Amino acid sequence: MKPLRIALTKGRLEKDTVAALERIGLDCTQVREKGRRLILPVGNGEIEVVLAKAADVITYVENGVCDLGVVGKDTIMENGSHFFEILDLGFGRCRFALACKKGVDFFGGYKAKTVATKYPNVARQFFESRAMDVRIIKIEGSVELAPLLGLADGIVDIVETGATLRENGLEVVETITQISARLIANTASLKLRKAEIEALASQLERSIAENRGEKTV
Ligand code: PRP
Repeated sequence: MKPLRIALTKGRLEKDTVAALERIGLDCTQVREKGRRLILPVGNGEIEVVLAKAADVITYVENGVCDLGVVGKDTIMENGSHFFEILDLGFGRCRFALACKKGVDFFGGYKAKTVATKYPNVARQFFESRAMDVRIIKIEGSVELAPLLGLADGIVDIVETGATLRENGLEVVETITQISARLIANTASLKLRKAEIEALASQLERSIAENRGEKTV
């Protein structure tokens, strides 16, 4: 049988994902020693790992070229979901927040506000839920620059430790929602390879619970 193919988000989530796979007994040596390779066998070859950018993980899973994916809830919220979200993996914890320059009353005044973000859909939904008319400007990275340079009144971004905000004289105005990494599945794969996917998901789920237990002891 073809290996079960999992798209992993490169970078921030990569280390924790590999650790989670190793905890359930899958040999990830090839991923750890990947060099510049992007498709790697895991375990005894029953699983194949694909390393991709977060938004591309969703594209590969939605289009069925990967059966499963590991991606942050932030990317899921921004990019929609024509797939099944099957497990909260518990790592990659951070939050979506609205932030602005320290001491500024973001909600004050009558002038329409401008907000910079890498997540325009998330930002739009948040302000719509507040019935606030806000101009949203898409920024590709280091969004914290926008209020500092005077391009925006605030930002909607992910906050993990809060260090980037703090070190740039910004502060959280409001937390929008909590975020963590999710295991997602292609809808057809979930039917065709149900047993394998469910077995992997339940192993991961058990290991997450055990790991959490160890940490709280
Ligand atoms: C994210 C986010 C913040 C920072 C938050 O950026 O956009 O800038 O991390 O983390 P902290 O609260 O621990 O400081 P990332 O590092 O992914 O880079 P980017 O802004 O260039 O996309």
